[in-house]
Amino acid sequence: MKPIDALKEFRLGACYYPEHWPESLWEDDFRRMRELHFSIVRVAEFAWSIFEPQEGVFSFDLFDRALDLAHKHGLKVIIGTPTATPPAWLTHKYPEVLNVTQDGVTLQHGLRRHYNYSSTKYRELSAIITRQMAEHYKDHPAVIGWQIDNEFNCEISEFYAPADHDAFRAWLQEKYGTLDKLNAAWGTVFWSQTYTDWEQVFLPRPTPAHKQPNPHQALDEKRFISDNTISYAKVQGDILREVASHQWVTTNGLFGHLDSHRMNDELLDFFSYDSYPQFSTLNDSKGEENPLADRSWSQKLGVVRSISPNFAIMEQQSGPGGWVNRMDMPSPKPGQMRLWTYQSIAHGANMVLYFRWRTATFGNEIYWHGINDYHNRPNRRVREAGQIGSELALAGNRIAASAFKADVALLRDYDNDWDGEYDIWHGPFAWQSAASWFKALNRRHIPSDTLYVRSSTTIEDLKRYKVLIYPHPAIMRDETAALLEQYAREGGIIIFGCRTGYKNEHGHAYMRPFPGAAAGLCGISVEEFTMVKGTRAATSMKWNGGDEALTGADAFNEILYVEDDSVEVVATYASDYYAGKPAVTRNAFGEGEAWYFGAVFNDASAGQIIDRLGLAAPTASWLSLPPDVELAIREGEDGPLFFLLNYSEQPAVITLDVEKTDLLTGSTLSGTISLEGFGVVVLS
Ligand code: GAL
Repeated sequence: MKPIDALKEFRLGACYYPEHWPESLWEDDFRRMRELHFSIVRVAEFAWSIFEPQEGVFSFDLFDRALDLAHKHGLKVIIGTPTATPPAWLTHKYPEVLNVTQDGVTLQHGLRRHYNYSSTKYRELSAIITRQMAEHYKDHPAVIGWQIDNEFNCEISEFYAPADHDAFRAWLQEKYGTLDKLNAAWGTVFWSQTYTDWEQVFLPRPTPAHKQPNPHQALDEKRFISDNTISYAKVQGDILREVASHQWVTTNGLFGHLDSHRMNDELLDFFSYDSYPQFSTLNDSKGEENPLADRSWSQKLGVVRSISPNFAIMEQQSGPGGWVNRMDMPSPKPGQMRLWTYQSIAHGANMVLYFRWRTATFGNEIYWHGINDYHNRPNRRVREAGQIGSELALAGNRIAASAFKADVALLRDYDNDWDGEYDIWHGPFAWQSAASWFKALNRRHIPSDTLYVRSSTTIEDLKRYKVLIYPHPAIMRDETAALLEQYAREGGIIIFGCRTGYKNEHGHAYMRPFPGAAAGLCGISVEEFTMVKGTRAATSMKWNGGDEALTGADAFNEILYVEDDSVEVVATYASDYYAGKPAVTRNAFGEGEAWYFGAVFNDASAGQIIDRLGLAAPTASWLSLPPDVELAIREGEDGPLFFLLNYSEQPAVITLDVEKTDLLTGSTLSGTISLEGFGVVVLS
């Protein structure tokens, strides 16, 4: 992986909003940031009405004074372009820039992200403000980089303004050329949907019965939104490159309907993410036995790493989060903010900025707490940030010279992510299986990556891993299958779950036995299949050999039929009319092997496969860790760094059979040690 120049030096800092505070506070804020060893602030990403109070009238005074003071105190600055928040004068004068819901309701001024990417007027006004800001700050000594907009597709990732329908039509004309090809790709002969004039073609609009669109149109809609978002971002990216070529460019967030990999490759120096692990108390792991909770954020950080091997955390949670009427999160306990900071770093962050320096006293986010409280007196979170700052002042650059290392990867791709949003015959399975695999590996201290299968993916990308798990790739092009075959032939191990390989890139079913494109690789076919839900009782499978363990055969069952002699049956169904029929198979393929698992994975079945493959923690020979402690490994020229992260409030007992140094404290560790609740050590 190519090292990212902009991230060579480790940086810690905070998001700062000078426009929210009396100017008399600024200098003291910057001074105290330096005391905490902060070296960077991000500013301005929502400040359009300050920079351009009236159309064509620009004002930089407030930020000039703030940036000069930041510079005086030795802080570097990231400037956000403010296009996530078009001002009132703009949306009032040019209402065509506003976003519209599928039902035709215009989303008005009053929150943020109320614009659409297709309006030529909005693109023009965005280009003007970006150019003005870039020209003004291109030589400012404190400014080192730019954030384009803020969190593309957060809040809302669907767009139905008139300009969006027009842009979609133009995108389809470019993609398909003729209406015949569009009709074929969308299968419009079904239910007499055939288009005879381009003017009849729209983004999905409300339809009878739960607004269900044509599924192939729904898939193209997401591809369009992604391309349209990137082309909007490019307007700004191109200006920043042209005007401020010696400053770097990034953007933050990881949201729906956006190929962040392509955006990063085409527009950015590196990717940035906003990490709020406390969302796990709201959305994740509902009803799950023994959930990973905040540790599940490590899986999201793995997705960020797949975009950009090292990255920035532009917003790191630094207090309880909450808007006035929603997202009521608990406060991080003592040590938890530090744990989350090192979670980000362990997974590849070389820059971390806390959101935010001080909690806002007005607006929708008065409960989204920063490090400092409204009263601005020293508090526990400020002290914790100071501890982290001192540690990273010593250890940061050594860490920054390394990157995360894993031998196992979970595969994903945008086609299946997007098709699976609408298609409940595979989409929901992907989430359960990916979470189960991540959990099973993580609790066994086997670091894993996420790898997106893209048209640019090469055999070298795949061969970096010993094992690949591609849980339910319903859409599989034959070229992808050929690449995966090459991977197995050359010694790789690939594992699929049910619903693999049966759709083409438009989302049409192949007229082939399942698993369609992956049939040759797996050496099996699917005799019969069923959803397992409703009146159908839960089913199970029995694993051959050893203790003949039983695990749940969740959600969807495919009865497998062995086609090739090279296939071994690893588990059979243990219930229902197909008891005794193959449920899991393993095909010897070239130097490697392909597994087929006929159901949706759960923690226990992923664990069975991990054990059968003999996968173990890379540190198994010298380190013993309890399941509550995560192991992450970053490797650099100075050797590996082993991050041990204790997500439990209770101390964890760890045994080292060799002597290691904790990079954060300099202390020597060996034998049995107790890692405090929420504690972190970095062994070198
Ligand atoms: C992020 C956003 C920030 C702030 C934060 C807390 O999504 O970028 O501006 O809103 O969440 O809600």
